Amino acid sequence: MRLAVIGGSGLTRLDGLERIRRVAVSTPYGEPSAPLVEGRLGDLNLIFLPRHGEGHSLPPHRVNYRANIAALKEKGVTHVIAAAAVGGIAARMAPRSLAVPDQIIDYTYGRDPTFFEFDDSPVTHVDLTFPYSEPLRQKLLAAGKSAGIELLEGGCYGCTQGPRLETAAEIRRMERDGCDLVGMTGMPEAALARELELDYACLAVVVNWAAGKSEGIVSMTEIKAHLAAGTDKVRRVLTAFAELLSGD
Ligand code: HPA
Repeated sequence: MRLAVIGGSGLTRLDGLERIRRVAVSTPYGEPSAPLVEGRLGDLNLIFLPRHGEGHSLPPHRVNYRANIAALKEKGVTHVIAAAAVGGIAARMAPRSLAVPDQIIDYTYGRDPTFFEFDDSPVTHVDLTFPYSEPLRQKLLAAGKSAGIELLEGGCYGCTQGPRLETAAEIRRMERDGCDLVGMTGMPEAALARELELDYACLAVVVNWAAGKSEGIVSMTEIKAHLAAGTDKVRRVLTAFAELLSGD
Protein backbone atom coordinates (compact mmCIF):
# COMPACT_ATOMS: atom_id res chain seq x y z
CA MET A 1 0.00 0.00 0.00
CA ARG A 2 1.21 3.48 -0.87
CA LEU A 3 -0.90 5.80 1.28
CA ALA A 4 -1.92 9.40 0.81
CA VAL A 5 -3.86 11.54 3.24
CA ILE A 6 -5.83 14.44 1.85
CA GLY A 7 -6.27 16.92 4.69
CA GLY A 8 -9.40 19.01 4.86
CA SER A 9 -10.26 22.14 6.84
CA GLY A 10 -8.20 22.23 10.02
CA LEU A 11 -5.76 19.69 8.68
CA THR A 12 -3.46 21.71 6.46
CA ARG A 13 -0.55 20.11 8.30
CA LEU A 14 -0.32 16.66 9.78
CA ASP A 15 1.30 16.92 13.22
CA GLY A 16 3.62 14.02 13.91
CA LEU A 17 4.44 13.71 10.21
CA GLU A 18 8.16 13.77 9.77
CA ARG A 19 8.64 15.65 6.53
CA ILE A 20 11.05 14.12 4.05
CA ARG A 21 10.45 16.41 1.08
CA ARG A 22 7.95 18.64 -0.66
CA VAL A 23 7.36 17.75 -4.27
CA ALA A 24 5.78 20.17 -6.72
CA VAL A 25 3.83 18.16 -9.28
CA SER A 26 2.10 19.44 -12.35
CA THR A 27 -0.48 17.34 -14.15
CA PRO A 28 -2.29 17.55 -17.50
CA TYR A 29 -5.22 18.92 -15.46
CA GLY A 30 -3.24 21.70 -13.81
CA GLU A 31 -1.63 22.11 -10.41
CA PRO A 32 -2.74 20.27 -7.29
CA SER A 33 -3.81 22.34 -4.28
CA ALA A 34 -0.22 22.36 -2.94
CA PRO A 35 3.10 20.58 -3.36
CA LEU A 36 2.83 16.99 -2.10
CA VAL A 37 4.52 16.39 1.22
CA GLU A 38 6.34 13.08 1.42
CA GLY A 39 6.85 12.08 5.00
CA ARG A 40 6.83 9.42 7.66
CA LEU A 41 4.19 8.84 10.28
CA GLY A 42 5.64 6.34 12.73
CA ASP A 43 7.07 3.62 10.50
CA LEU A 44 4.90 4.41 7.52
CA ASN A 45 5.83 6.50 4.50
CA LEU A 46 2.94 8.51 3.22
CA ILE A 47 2.06 11.49 1.10
CA PHE A 48 0.12 14.40 2.53
CA LEU A 49 -1.86 16.88 0.47
CA PRO A 50 -3.79 19.79 2.01
CA ARG A 51 -6.98 19.96 -0.06
CA HIS A 52 -7.53 23.68 0.42
CA GLY A 53 -3.88 24.65 -0.14
CA GLU A 54 -1.13 25.30 2.37
CA GLY A 55 -2.70 28.57 3.51
CA HIS A 56 -6.27 27.25 3.35
CA SER A 57 -7.01 29.61 0.48
CA LEU A 58 -9.01 27.39 -1.92
CA PRO A 59 -12.77 27.18 -1.36
CA PRO A 60 -14.38 23.78 -2.03
CA HIS A 61 -15.66 24.66 -5.51
CA ARG A 62 -12.23 25.94 -6.60
CA VAL A 63 -10.24 22.88 -5.54
CA ASN A 64 -8.73 21.20 -8.59
CA TYR A 65 -9.87 17.71 -7.65
CA ARG A 66 -8.62 16.21 -10.90
CA ALA A 67 -5.12 17.61 -10.45
CA ASN A 68 -5.04 16.42 -6.83
CA ILE A 69 -6.05 12.85 -7.66
CA ALA A 70 -3.90 12.71 -10.82
CA ALA A 71 -0.85 13.98 -8.88
CA LEU A 72 -1.29 11.28 -6.23
CA LYS A 73 -1.68 8.61 -8.90
CA GLU A 74 1.44 9.86 -10.67
CA LYS A 75 3.40 9.47 -7.43
CA GLY A 76 2.38 5.83 -7.14
CA VAL A 77 -0.31 6.27 -4.49
CA THR A 78 -2.71 3.32 -4.22
CA HIS A 79 -4.82 4.27 -1.18
CA VAL A 80 -6.28 7.61 -0.14
CA ILE A 81 -7.73 8.62 3.20
CA ALA A 82 -9.75 11.77 2.74
CA ALA A 83 -10.13 13.71 5.96
CA ALA A 84 -13.02 16.14 5.85
CA ALA A 85 -14.93 18.48 8.16
CA VAL A 86 -18.69 17.97 7.94
CA GLY A 87 -21.96 19.04 9.51
CA GLY A 88 -24.08 16.51 11.38
CA ILE A 89 -27.61 15.82 10.13
CA ALA A 90 -28.44 12.47 11.78
CA ALA A 91 -28.88 12.50 15.57
CA ARG A 92 -25.89 10.18 16.06
CA MET A 93 -23.57 12.54 14.12
CA ALA A 94 -22.98 14.98 16.98
CA PRO A 95 -20.22 17.62 16.85
CA ARG A 96 -16.73 16.22 17.62
CA SER A 97 -17.66 12.72 16.54
CA LEU A 98 -15.72 11.01 13.78
CA ALA A 99 -17.44 8.97 11.09
CA VAL A 100 -16.48 6.64 8.27
CA PRO A 101 -19.35 7.09 5.81
CA ASP A 102 -20.32 4.40 3.32
CA GLN A 103 -22.46 6.31 0.84
CA ILE A 104 -22.54 9.64 -0.98
CA ILE A 105 -25.15 11.87 -2.60
CA ASP A 106 -23.70 14.52 -4.88
CA TYR A 107 -25.41 17.93 -4.93
CA THR A 108 -22.48 19.80 -6.49
CA TYR A 109 -22.48 21.44 -9.91
CA GLY A 110 -19.99 23.00 -12.27
CA ARG A 111 -17.02 20.96 -11.04
CA ASP A 112 -14.92 18.87 -13.43
CA PRO A 113 -16.30 15.42 -12.63
CA THR A 114 -14.24 13.06 -14.81
CA PHE A 115 -10.87 12.30 -16.37
CA PHE A 116 -12.61 10.77 -19.37
CA GLU A 117 -13.75 13.73 -21.41
CA PHE A 118 -10.94 14.36 -23.84
CA ASP A 119 -10.66 13.44 -27.51
CA ASP A 120 -8.20 10.66 -26.78
CA SER A 121 -10.26 9.10 -23.96
CA PRO A 122 -13.26 6.88 -24.60
CA VAL A 123 -16.45 7.67 -22.69
CA THR A 124 -16.17 5.66 -19.48
CA HIS A 125 -18.82 5.03 -16.84
CA VAL A 126 -17.15 3.79 -13.68
CA ASP A 127 -19.22 1.82 -11.17
CA LEU A 128 -19.81 3.81 -7.99
CA THR A 129 -22.40 1.60 -6.26
CA PHE A 130 -20.12 1.54 -3.24
CA PRO A 131 -18.24 4.83 -3.50
CA TYR A 132 -15.72 4.06 -0.76
CA SER A 133 -13.25 1.20 -0.59
CA GLU A 134 -14.60 -1.33 1.89
CA PRO A 135 -11.19 -2.81 2.84
CA LEU A 136 -9.83 0.68 3.51
CA ARG A 137 -12.92 1.61 5.55
CA GLN A 138 -12.46 -1.54 7.63
CA LYS A 139 -8.79 -0.70 8.25
CA LEU A 140 -9.77 2.79 9.39
CA LEU A 141 -12.38 1.38 11.76
CA ALA A 142 -9.76 -1.00 13.16
CA ALA A 143 -7.38 1.94 13.64
CA GLY A 144 -10.09 3.77 15.58
CA LYS A 145 -10.49 0.74 17.85
CA SER A 146 -6.81 0.43 18.44
CA ALA A 147 -6.53 4.17 19.25
CA GLY A 148 -9.52 3.91 21.60
CA ILE A 149 -11.41 6.51 19.56
CA GLU A 150 -15.00 5.85 18.60
CA LEU A 151 -15.60 5.98 14.86
CA LEU A 152 -19.23 6.02 13.76
CA GLU A 153 -19.68 3.29 11.20
CA GLY A 154 -21.43 4.12 7.94
CA GLY A 155 -23.70 6.95 6.96
CA CYS A 156 -24.44 8.89 3.84
CA TYR A 157 -22.33 11.97 3.03
CA GLY A 158 -24.26 14.62 1.12
CA CYS A 159 -21.90 16.85 -0.81
CA THR A 160 -23.08 20.43 -1.37
CA GLN A 161 -21.52 23.10 -3.53
CA GLY A 162 -20.61 25.67 -0.88
CA PRO A 163 -18.87 27.78 0.09
CA ARG A 164 -22.04 28.98 1.80
CA LEU A 165 -23.64 26.72 4.36
CA GLU A 166 -27.09 25.28 3.68
CA THR A 167 -30.53 26.60 4.50
CA ALA A 168 -32.60 24.70 7.07
CA ALA A 169 -34.96 23.62 4.26
CA GLU A 170 -32.05 22.26 2.22
CA ILE A 171 -30.92 20.21 5.20
CA ARG A 172 -34.49 18.92 5.70
CA ARG A 173 -34.52 17.86 2.07
CA MET A 174 -31.12 16.19 2.41
CA GLU A 175 -32.39 14.35 5.46
CA ARG A 176 -35.40 13.09 3.48
CA ASP A 177 -32.96 11.99 0.79
CA GLY A 178 -31.12 9.89 3.37
CA CYS A 179 -28.08 12.05 4.12
CA ASP A 180 -26.52 11.72 7.58
CA LEU A 181 -23.66 14.16 7.05
CA VAL A 182 -23.11 17.24 4.93
CA GLY A 183 -19.82 18.44 3.51
CA MET A 184 -18.52 20.27 0.46
CA THR A 185 -15.55 18.29 -0.81
CA GLY A 186 -16.50 14.62 -1.02
CA MET A 187 -17.34 14.90 -4.70
CA PRO A 188 -16.10 14.65 -7.34
CA GLU A 189 -13.05 13.55 -5.31
CA ALA A 190 -14.40 10.05 -4.60
CA ALA A 191 -15.50 9.46 -8.20
CA LEU A 192 -12.18 10.65 -9.61
CA ALA A 193 -10.31 8.34 -7.26
CA ARG A 194 -12.45 5.46 -8.53
CA GLU A 195 -11.73 6.43 -12.14
CA LEU A 196 -8.00 6.10 -11.43
CA GLU A 197 -8.58 2.89 -9.45
CA LEU A 198 -7.40 4.28 -6.12
CA ASP A 199 -8.80 2.80 -2.91
CA TYR A 200 -10.49 5.78 -1.28
CA ALA A 201 -12.20 6.24 2.09
CA CYS A 202 -13.38 9.25 4.06
CA LEU A 203 -12.64 10.07 7.69
CA ALA A 204 -15.18 12.74 8.54
CA VAL A 205 -15.01 15.05 11.55
CA VAL A 206 -18.34 16.51 12.59
CA VAL A 207 -17.76 20.18 13.42
CA ASN A 208 -21.32 21.49 13.76
CA TRP A 209 -24.97 20.54 13.70
CA ALA A 210 -26.19 21.15 10.15
CA ALA A 211 -28.48 24.13 9.55
CA GLY A 212 -31.74 23.88 11.49
CA LYS A 213 -30.53 20.92 13.57
CA SER A 214 -29.77 23.06 16.62
CA GLU A 215 -31.13 26.27 18.07
CA GLY A 216 -30.18 29.38 16.15
CA ILE A 217 -27.64 29.68 13.37
CA VAL A 218 -24.39 27.83 12.70
CA SER A 219 -21.65 29.53 14.70
CA MET A 220 -18.14 29.80 13.29
CA THR A 221 -16.62 30.10 16.76
CA GLU A 222 -18.23 26.82 17.71
CA ILE A 223 -17.07 25.20 14.47
CA LYS A 224 -13.48 26.23 15.20
CA ALA A 225 -13.54 24.69 18.68
CA HIS A 226 -15.08 21.42 17.44
CA LEU A 227 -12.67 21.33 14.52
CA ALA A 228 -9.62 21.63 16.76
CA ALA A 229 -10.85 18.85 19.06
CA GLY A 230 -11.96 16.61 16.18
CA THR A 231 -8.76 17.14 14.22
CA ASP A 232 -6.71 16.00 17.15
CA LYS A 233 -8.67 12.73 17.12
CA VAL A 234 -8.10 12.41 13.36
CA ARG A 235 -4.36 12.63 13.94
CA ARG A 236 -4.53 9.92 16.57
CA VAL A 237 -6.54 7.63 14.30
CA LEU A 238 -4.10 8.17 11.45
CA THR A 239 -1.16 7.41 13.73
CA ALA A 240 -2.85 4.18 14.84
CA PHE A 241 -3.59 3.39 11.19
CA ALA A 242 0.11 3.77 10.38
CA GLU A 243 1.02 1.52 13.31
CA LEU A 244 -1.43 -1.16 12.23
CA LEU A 245 -0.12 -1.11 8.70
CA SER A 246 3.52 -1.29 9.63
CA GLY A 247 2.64 -4.27 11.85
CA ASP A 248 0.96 -6.06 8.91
N1 HPA B 1 -22.42 22.09 5.68
C1 HPA B 1 -21.57 21.85 4.65
N2 HPA B 1 -20.28 21.62 4.82
C2 HPA B 1 -19.80 21.63 6.07
C3 HPA B 1 -20.61 21.88 7.18
C4 HPA B 1 -22.01 22.12 6.97
O1 HPA B 1 -22.79 22.36 7.90
N3 HPA B 1 -19.81 21.84 8.28
C5 HPA B 1 -18.56 21.56 7.82
N4 HPA B 1 -18.55 21.42 6.50
